[in-house]
Amino acid sequence: MSILVTGGAGYIGSHTCAELLNKGFGVIVVDNLSNSSLTALDRVEEITGKSVKRYVCDVRDEDALTKVFQENSVDAVIHFAGLKAVGESCAKPLEYYDNNVGGTVKLLQCMQAAGCKKIVFSSSATVYGMNNASPLREDMPAGGTTNPYGTTKLFIERILSDLYASDKGWSVSILRYFNPIGAHKSGKIGENPRDIPNNLMPYIAQVAVGRREKLNIFGNDYDTRDGTGVRDYIHVADLADGHVKALDRVLGKMGLDVYNLGTGRGVSVLELHAAFEKASGVKIAYEIGPRRDGDIAECYADAGKAERELGFKAVRTIEEACGDTWRWQSQNPEGF
Ligand code: NAD
Ligand code: WQD
Repeated sequence: MSILVTGGAGYIGSHTCAELLNKGFGVIVVDNLSNSSLTALDRVEEITGKSVKRYVCDVRDEDALTKVFQENSVDAVIHFAGLKAVGESCAKPLEYYDNNVGGTVKLLQCMQAAGCKKIVFSSSATVYGMNNASPLREDMPAGGTTNPYGTTKLFIERILSDLYASDKGWSVSILRYFNPIGAHKSGKIGENPRDIPNNLMPYIAQVAVGRREKLNIFGNDYDTRDGTGVRDYIHVADLADGHVKALDRVLGKMGLDVYNLGTGRGVSVLELHAAFEKASGVKIAYEIGPRRDGDIAECYADAGKAERELGFKAVRTIEEACGDTWRWQSQNPEGF
């Protein structure tokens, strides 16, 4: 079976490629390298001993994408390609709508033309917006997103559902990730932010390795157990596992399903900070600052549906994720 992985050189994509290869799938990556490097795929080949076919191209490039489908017999697509920085999406909304929404429409058109109608899509817990209380369930109303990035995910979910309504021959799995963290246990691939990290874990890791002076904690006056924000951090290797399970489902049956990929457990900023200090043995300086605009007190999954229907359960601990991140960051202090 051959799987086309868009955005496969990126953080979650590269870990998923490794898992797919280990499970015996053939992997074809399409990536424009706007936020990644081919070194990640070299490392995936090193880890697995198997090769990845690569196309450096943009999913919005119809000719290039058509060629990919002509040159390969693609059984299904896992679609990671997209821009993901919340703050940047507020400054450059058109870029985000063009890349994420426009890119997905182009991909779906090429898939349709090639007769490949099976897709696993990277959505996000951000589609639950500000108006739902955790634990978040898939049947809660999506919407109320607070930034263009989140709205691109909401729109794409809607496009996929309209497409499925028009043609029940499609098979679609929408995965709403919570907060992905961690790295491959080999230390060879991991998260590699191009600029100052927006997310908590890569920021902590860069403080640990001496690239940043201290962590700024965005508020300690939330109504949570220690006052800091609570999130559902899921190990990227568990996420990769979840993709293979979702892929099995789209390969096996038609339909459209939405799944949370989370652990179902909330962890605070201070708890993650402490877990990282323990795993790395490095003291991480921090300072409490004001809340960040758009943040909510807590966000964690009801992970029951994915367990019931996909047989997926996140099994790795926060401590393991911190240890794996530290191995990646300390062995690759400047990233790839
Ligand atoms: P990433 O930036 O590491 O990976 C995305 C990859 O897509 C990169 O390799 C980038 O070069 C590529 N890309 C972007 N636009 C492209 C285009 N037009 N054509 C071809 N390639 C393109 O990000 P990630 O963390 O691995 O995220 C993967 C997906 O998961 C994204 O869609 C993201 O929105 C979604 N997601 C991520 C998180 C998170 O916190 N990391 C959470 C929820 C959802
Ligand atoms: C986690 C916690 C912060 C950085 C974002 C996107 C979401 C999804 C995942 C893509 C919060 C606190 C953070 C720092 C801090 N991405 N924090 N200091 O905001 O839950 O989710 O990434 O889909 O859409 O919004 O993740 O890692 O930024 O923050 O105190 O330097 O850490 O306030 O409580 P978030 P995060």
